[in-house]
Amino acid sequence: MTNLQLNKEGKLKHFLSIEGLSKESLTEILDTAESFSSMSEQRVKKVPLLRGKTIVILFFENSTRTRTTFELAATRLSADVLTMNISTSATSKGESLLDTIRNLEAMHVDMFVVRHAISGAGHFIAQNAAPHISVINAGDGQHAHPTQAMLDMFTIRQYKHDFKELKVAIIGDILHSRVARSQIQALNTLGTKEVRVIAPKTLLPAHVESLGVKAFNSIEEGLAGVDVIIMLRLQKERMTSALLPTEREYFKCFGLTEKRLKLAKSNAIVMHPGPINRGVEIESCIADGPQSVILQQVGNGIAVRMAIMSLTLQSNIEAL
Ligand code: CP
Repeated sequence: MTNLQLNKEGKLKHFLSIEGLSKESLTEILDTAESFSSMSEQRVKKVPLLRGKTIVILFFENSTRTRTTFELAATRLSADVLTMNISTSATSKGESLLDTIRNLEAMHVDMFVVRHAISGAGHFIAQNAAPHISVINAGDGQHAHPTQAMLDMFTIRQYKHDFKELKVAIIGDILHSRVARSQIQALNTLGTKEVRVIAPKTLLPAHVESLGVKAFNSIEEGLAGVDVIIMLRLQKERMTSALLPTEREYFKCFGLTEKRLKLAKSNAIVMHPGPINRGVEIESCIADGPQSVILQQVGNGIAVRMAIMSLTLQSNIEAL
């Protein structure tokens, strides 16, 4: 089966999902991001790699971190950036997604960065866009959030170096989480020793072990001896029925507290893709504490998104 994300030479043309990408592709993204990561401390935070390219940021869902770090990443690569405000666009007058894309294509754009509530929206745009255009998935429904997963892998590699030695626990609303799905695929592709998911039964997908994880319904058992803890938000906006008693009860059974953190390795790092809900999935003192790398994750999003945008557009330029 052909992978829509790769061009004929096997280079990344779109970035839609971690699924189907090799360890070498993911490592190339991490290594390229490494080369961009020191730029934030420099006086001039720009390189001319994408000068003359036009990138459209098309978010049909709310965002703080992803949208702003994509904008900064594109600006630092010297691209021209247009962020569409969907609430004031013609979408609100009934224009279809395809018509929106066709109209933007007529303005000779080179890349779409898309967040959409419908799973597969990025694939749909990639299949229908003009051949010179790259599409990056910035989160589609419950399906995937691959750039978040890559910035998480970059952050883990900064602190822990070798995935083969690591036990990683992902805790919370696995069922509705596009972030968890992409993280699990990335961790397994990079050869992580053990990937655990910890959640009440109602927040785990059926047959979750088939994704290549060990499932735990007890946070105490699941946290024992792990190197990396990834907390997730309860995605109430995606819950169609009552899957939980109360937030208070959830925190009592699955919240990350100081006492529970001690069950992990003493040098374990604590991660969260954000937005965090203090006192629901994580105690404030841990979110702000010495083991937390939550804000480093946000900062790393710029270098990783620069890497993904430059690699995908570069493969398009080479193919012309
Ligand atoms: N992690 C993440 O996707 O955050 P935003 O929704 O703020 O972009």
